[in-house]
Parts: sequence; structure tokens; C-alpha cells
Amino acid sequence: MKNYKQIAVAVFAFSLLLGFSACKPKNAGSAVSSDAASKAYVAPGKYDEFYNFVSGGFSGQMSAYGIPSGRLLRVIPVFSVDPEKGYGYSEETKPMLNTSHGFVPWDDLHHVQMSKTNGDYDGRWAFGNANNTPRVARIDLKTFRTAEIIELPNSGGNHSSPFITENTEYVVAGTRFSVPPDDKNGDIPINSYKQNFKGTLSFISVAKEDGKMDIAFQIQCPGVNFDLSRAGKGVSHGWFFFSCYNTEQANTLLEVNASQKDKDFIMAVNWKKAEEYLKAGKGRKQSVRYASNRYSDITHSATSEIKTEVTVLDAKDLKDICYFFPCPKSPHGCDVSPTGEYIVGSGKLAALIPVFSFDKLQKAIAAKDYIGEFDGIPILKYESVLYGEVKKPGLGPLHTEFDNNGNAYTSMFVSSEVVKWNIKDLKVVDRVPTYYSVGHLTVAHGDTKSPKGKYLVAYNKITKDRYLPTGPELSQSAQLYDISGDKMQLILDFPTIGEPHYAQIISADLIKNNSQKFFKMEENKHPYFSNGEATTKVVREGNKVHIYMTAIRSHLTPDNIEGIRMGDEVYFHVTNLEQDWDVPHGFAVKGAANAELLIMPGETQTLKWYPTKVGIYPMYCTDFCSALHQEMTGYIRVSPAGSNVPLLFSTGKNYPVSDTAKAK
Ligand code: CUA
Repeated sequence: MKNYKQIAVAVFAFSLLLGFSACKPKNAGSAVSSDAASKAYVAPGKYDEFYNFVSGGFSGQMSAYGIPSGRLLRVIPVFSVDPEKGYGYSEETKPMLNTSHGFVPWDDLHHVQMSKTNGDYDGRWAFGNANNTPRVARIDLKTFRTAEIIELPNSGGNHSSPFITENTEYVVAGTRFSVPPDDKNGDIPINSYKQNFKGTLSFISVAKEDGKMDIAFQIQCPGVNFDLSRAGKGVSHGWFFFSCYNTEQANTLLEVNASQKDKDFIMAVNWKKAEEYLKAGKGRKQSVRYASNRYSDITHSATSEIKTEVTVLDAKDLKDICYFFPCPKSPHGCDVSPTGEYIVGSGKLAALIPVFSFDKLQKAIAAKDYIGEFDGIPILKYESVLYGEVKKPGLGPLHTEFDNNGNAYTSMFVSSEVVKWNIKDLKVVDRVPTYYSVGHLTVAHGDTKSPKGKYLVAYNKITKDRYLPTGPELSQSAQLYDISGDKMQLILDFPTIGEPHYAQIISADLIKNNSQKFFKMEENKHPYFSNGEATTKVVREGNKVHIYMTAIRSHLTPDNIEGIRMGDEVYFHVTNLEQDWDVPHGFAVKGAANAELLIMPGETQTLKWYPTKVGIYPMYCTDFCSALHQEMTGYIRVSPAGSNVPLLFSTGKNYPVSDTAKAK
């Protein structure tokens, strides 16, 4: 690994070279324009031009950064509980993490995709995948909150996900691990992989109006590992392209056994054809169990439903929906050019980048130009589908995105660089180092029909020597490049939350004007909503106690509560009465075994609490809300089980001692 000083000197020398030898830049005269720091500088009070939504990997979350500043704007909890926001801890959000395995508080989020209209981002939703317990989440970009999570049956390791068609008709997910179908007896020898394991693709429909997701159908495919994918667009709209590895069908020591063949496959899927078969009743109803979880901004609550059936199309029987074509050495990224004509395969162990032609693919299919079959699926001839190869691009190509000038940008893991090449003539035109070992990369609108170019971010796996050390574990890094000129220029390094995998960069204009400021009180349909302090109350139902509470600067109502007994199950239903932007209140009570609540204006959230000892328990607002935030507190009295202390609640007044002093 190079010494960072050498690199800094090299970068400095390189920028000097650019500054003096390039032809006259647009703002010649402004020496600052060639300065990297100024390109990433967004002055205090100014907004970034783009949002960058970044997967959090094993943190299970997604984060939003400003580009070009690299400022972290928000961490959005998706698949993992988040005590900061009460996500997965409040009674309202717990159902979001329900699955057919019960409550699952963690996952591994790898890929982010924006919703699209006419092949470009529309700023409505972001989607993310759960790798471990297969699920897809939809994040509402009005609220920056997870609005829906759907579980995927017949899947194991939902890595090949989520991928979006050009009008968000479907969010598509391929299984990483092939597994026996859910309705078959899975209690079988692992080494019966070749006979019993299947790979499944899930087509999740997305409702146009509200984004609600449902599994429209699944396609059962041969047992291989699906890795990454893109939907076709433009000329190839109606198709999907999935990279596949482990066509050796190994079930052990994959690092050796799944790297035997010189070529694995890309699988082309004609999903329009699959839709026709579905309509014609060619699907088989299969009995499964999967969770469908939705959050409502009206009831401020999530509901979880276990669904029990999917319709499965069998690729083996329906001959013309799936086709394989060979791709060298452990394909990983599988990316589609802005016009939809070129499909770029990236073999992790390859020393070239094959570029396939959709037009040639169609001709090869029409001519049945097959070299054989794999588990009932025709294999097309490599040369018949190939447009050309990018020669000597670097080592370990992984992922490719595009700009608005006919260029492609490929991340090179092994040689640790970004390589820019021309889509038409496949010539490498520029290369720039990353620090170090880049995985994914993204260009502004870089997977759409109309990329914006301008910025590219590389997400690196290794940061040794980039930042101050932080013990054994170092932060992963993102690196921002200005790609508006002929030469790519590194302008910023910034650490990420969790391990970044895929990310997307979207124009801030598509999101910022729709950003929700607060929830309207008059629309609140939460069953335990308090429509003002006058309606607050404490209601006992057996050993359950419901506290209808409100929060407003700077007090809780009620703030004195007595008559709680040991053995009670206490629910604090806190409504934030504010109707102004950015005035959340928090709520915490001593000894609570979950987390705080963080309640937005107009919202109701519930904390469940079991008192563990007799005594007085303080509670308080956790979010600094006014100069008197520190005064925003209260007390709860817990008496022994069977006590006859009456249920009393108040704010700003004291009951006569004779009422409250009674104890058994
Ligand atoms: Cu409300 Cu601090």
C-alpha cells in the first residue's frame, strides 16, 4: 500500500499539472476553481446540490449525505432497531420488523435504489434490501422514514436486490443462496444441492399512488447464486439482467468450488413475457409464509400481516422467459447503459470487461443460437451476444455507472481505481486511484436513462491511513470525484455509517420541496391520540394502564401520576402537540427496557414500561426543545401489587394529601 504522503504529493503535482497545462477552463481567472477543497465546499447556510443515499451494510440502516459537501444529513433506520429514534422500540414501529421468523431486530442492507418514472429518478421513494432475512424496504422520501417492509419467501440471502424497472412497475429481488422451495421438506442433506435447491426471482409490484408493495409473482430458476442485476431500459425495457455465479452448484468451500469454470452466466429475463404467462394462468400457487409490514402516517402505527401464498412461474417449463449467456470469471456487477443497448458484465476475477448488446441478444434468441442448456435454460453463445470487450481496464472490475457524455465508469477492486471508458469504442480514457479497494461506485443519476454526470462517489472497503485511527476498527470511506472534465479529480474523502455498498445520488430538487414539515393534528387517527391537554387521561384495564399524555414546550401532561402498581403493564401514549417544523419531543422513564420515544409534531408514539420496584420514577423529555427543556419532566409513583392508592394524574396542581397518601 502506498504511503499517503506520496499520494498527496502525486495528487498535488497532478492538480498543478492540470491547472497549468489544461486548456483554458470555463472560469479562467478564478484560481480557486482548480482547487479541490473549493469544489466540495458548500458555504454555511447553503444547500447541497444532491442527496446521496448510502447503504449502511451491517448497520442495517441507510444514510443520506449532501453532495458535494459530504455532510451527513440523516441516518434512516430501516432493518435495524435504532434507539436514537425509538425505531423498533416504540409499540408503533415494532411491527415493521416482524417476519415469518418473528421479530428480527437487525439486518444487512446492501443496495439502495430510487423509484423511477420514465427511466429517471422521481424522488418519491428509496428501496433497500435485507440480505440476511430476505426483505425489501420502501423509504418515503417525504418523511425519510421506512414506510414498508415486505419479506421474500423461497429466498436465502437477498443480495441481488432491489432493482427497479423504468416506471417502478416492479422492484425485483434475486436470491443469493439457492435453497429448497419453502413448501418442500427442507430437512434434506446439504449435498443434495443439485437435485433440490432452486434459485428464485421475486417481482414485487409497487402501487402507483401510494407505493404499496405486493409480490406479484416469482420465477423459479436453476440452483445458482444470483448476485447483482439491472432492469433493462429504453430499448431493453421489459427485460432484466442478473449476474449469476456458482454455476458449479457447489455447496461447500465456494471460494474454490464456485470458481472452477472459466465463465459463469448472466441471465436475461423477459419479464413482459412472464407477465403474459401469469395472465394466462401458467403460474403455480405455492403455500408460503411471509410478512407484509406497513406504516401509516395517519394512525402513526405499523401493521404486520403474514401472507400465505405466492404464484410461481417455472423457468424450466416456460422456455422463453429466461436465457443464459456466458460472462467471464465470477460475474458481479451487471449494468445497463443509459440507452438500454449495452449490458456491462464485471467478472471479479476477470482482466477485461465484456460489453453485451441487447440487439445481438434479441437476434441470437430469434436464431436459437444456443451452445447448450443449463438445467433446462438455453445458453446463448458468448460471441453472438458480445458487443466487445474493454481490454486491460485494470484488475477486478465490479460495478459500472454512466455519465451524460457517453462514458462508463467501472470500479476496480483489485487494482483499487476507477476506470473511465467510452461506451462506443470501448477505449479506456482515464483512470484515477481510490483509497483503497473500491467496491461500489455511483454517479449522479448514473443508472438512469438521463445521467447527470458531474459527481462520482467511490465506496471503499479499506481506509488504513486515511483518517485518525479509531482502535481496531476503522471507518469505511467514500471518495468524491469531480467527473465534469476530461480528467476525474478526487475532491473529498468522507467516512460512512456502517459498511457502504451501493448508493445513489439524486438531485436535491426532486426531494427537498416535498419534505414533510410536521403531521397535522386534525389528521391524527392514532387510537390513543390526545387532542390537547384537556383530553389527557390515565385508564386502567386490569393490569394494563394506558396513559394518554401530551408534550408541548415545556411540559408533559400529566406530569404527576400515582396509582401504578407492581405487575402493571404501563403504556405511555405520548402525543406531541406542536404544529411547527423541527420541534420533536422525546420521552424516557427510568428503568425502561426499550429506548426513548422521539415524537414528531402532531404524532403519537407509545412506550411500554414494566415497573420493576416500588418507588418514585422520574420521566423527562429527551430532545432539547426550549430554554426550559430541562424543566420538561415528571414523576410516577409505583405502589406494591394490590395497593389501593387511587389512580391520580395531574399537571400543575396537587391533590389533597388525604387523597394520595393512602397505602395498603
Ligand atoms: Cu420537549 Cu425537551
